[in-house]
Amino acid sequence: MSAFCCSPQVWWTLVAVLQVGAAHPHRGARAGRSAACREDTEYLHSSICCLKCEAGQFVKSHCTEAGQKGSCEKCEDGTFTEHANGLKQCIKCTQCPPDQEMLRACTPTQDTVCQCKPGRYCHPDEACEICKKCRSCKGDEEVVKNCTSTSDTECKKIQPRSTADEALTKMAVGLCVSAGIILVALLIFVIWKKRRGTAESSSVKPKCFPVTPEPSTAGGHGKGLVADKLQLHVKEEKEKLLNSENSSASSSRHSLTDRREDESFPILDPVDGVESLKKCIEFFEEVDVDFHKRFFRQLSLNDNMIKSRDYLPYEDKIHELLNHWVEKEGKDASLNELLRVLLDLNQRRTAERIVQRAVDGGHYRHQAAALEV
Ligand SMILES: *[C@@H]1O[C@H](CO)[C@@H](O)[C@H](O)[C@H]1NC(C)=O
Repeated sequence: MSAFCCSPQVWWTLVAVLQVGAAHPHRGARAGRSAACREDTEYLHSSICCLKCEAGQFVKSHCTEAGQKGSCEKCEDGTFTEHANGLKQCIKCTQCPPDQEMLRACTPTQDTVCQCKPGRYCHPDEACEICKKCRSCKGDEEVVKNCTSTSDTECKKIQPRSTADEALTKMAVGLCVSAGIILVALLIFVIWKKRRGTAESSSVKPKCFPVTPEPSTAGGHGKGLVADKLQLHVKEEKEKLLNSENSSASSSRHSLTDRREDESFPILDPVDGVESLKKCIEFFEEVDVDFHKRFFRQLSLNDNMIKSRDYLPYEDKIHELLNHWVEKEGKDASLNELLRVLLDLNQRRTAERIVQRAVDGGHYRHQAAALEV
C-alpha cells in the first residue's frame, strides 16, 4: 500500500532528520549563545528558532524573531500536514493506485487511506507495491478464513472428514450385504433342514438302533418293539431293492442316487462290543483318499481336528481320527454308523468289503433282522 510506503510517519522522520542536519552547523556556531531549537515545537530558520505551524497548516512566512510564530495557512485541498511543522507547503495526498480502493479520503491532517481491492491483499508489514491476488482453495480444501485486504485466504484439507464418512458408508453397506447373505443362508438352511427332517421321519435308519444289543438284558421290552419295527422296515426296503435290481442291473454303483438302498445294507452286531469296532478300524484304510475329508466331516469331526492330522501318513491319519471319533461317541460309536456314512458318500463297494472283513475276521455277525432278508 502506498499509504505505507509513503506514509506521513516516513515523511515526518525525513523532515526531522533534515532539520536536525541543518541545525548542526548553527549549533556549533552559536554554541554558548543560544540553546538548540526545541524539537517538538520549534524549527530553525535563518539562525533563529521559530514556532512550528499546527497540523493541517503550513508556514506561509517565517518568523523574524526567535520563539515567535510566522504566519501559518491551512493546507489546500489535496494536501495535508499530519503534525506541527515548519514546512513551506503541505504534502500532497496519496492517490490510491488502480489495484487499491480508498478506505478514507485525505483530510488536511491525514493522508488518504487506501486498501487492496477485494480479491487482493497486502500484509501491512510487507509494504508491497502491488496487491497480491488472494489464493482460492482447491477442490479438496475448505476455507478456514476468507481473504481480507491484509491477509490471504486460509485453506484446510477436507479429506479426513470425507474419508471418515466414506469408511462409515462402506461399513454400513458391508454390514447390510453380510446381513442379507446370512439371512438367505439361514433361510436355505431352514428349508433344507425341514426337507431332510421329513425325509428322515419317513424312514428308519440303522443308526437309530443300539450298537450292541444284548437280547438277554432284562426289560428289553422297548427294544423288542424297535427290533420288530426294524424287521418290518428292512423287509420293505429289501423288497424295494429287489424290484429296483430287477429293473436295472447296475444298481449298486448308483446306490447313492437311491437312498433306500442304503437302508437295505446289512446291520452288524459286534461280537466283543467296542473292542470289535476298534479291531475293524484298520479296514477303513481302504476308504478312498478323495473322500477322507467328507467322511470325517460326516462323522462330525471338526475341520481343525481333521487338519491337525494331515501331516500323518494316510493310514495313521485314519486310525487316529477314527479312534478319536470312537472316544468321542462313546457307547454310540458303531460300525453301522461308519458304514452308513460310507454309503452316504456313495462308497458302497468299500462298505461291503469292510462288512466282509469284519464278519470274516469274526468281529461282527450279521444282525438277525438284516440277515433274514
Ligand atoms: C467467506 O465468505 C463467504 C461469502 O463471502 C461466506 O459465505 C463464508 O461463510 C465466509 N467463510 C468464512 C470462513 O468466513
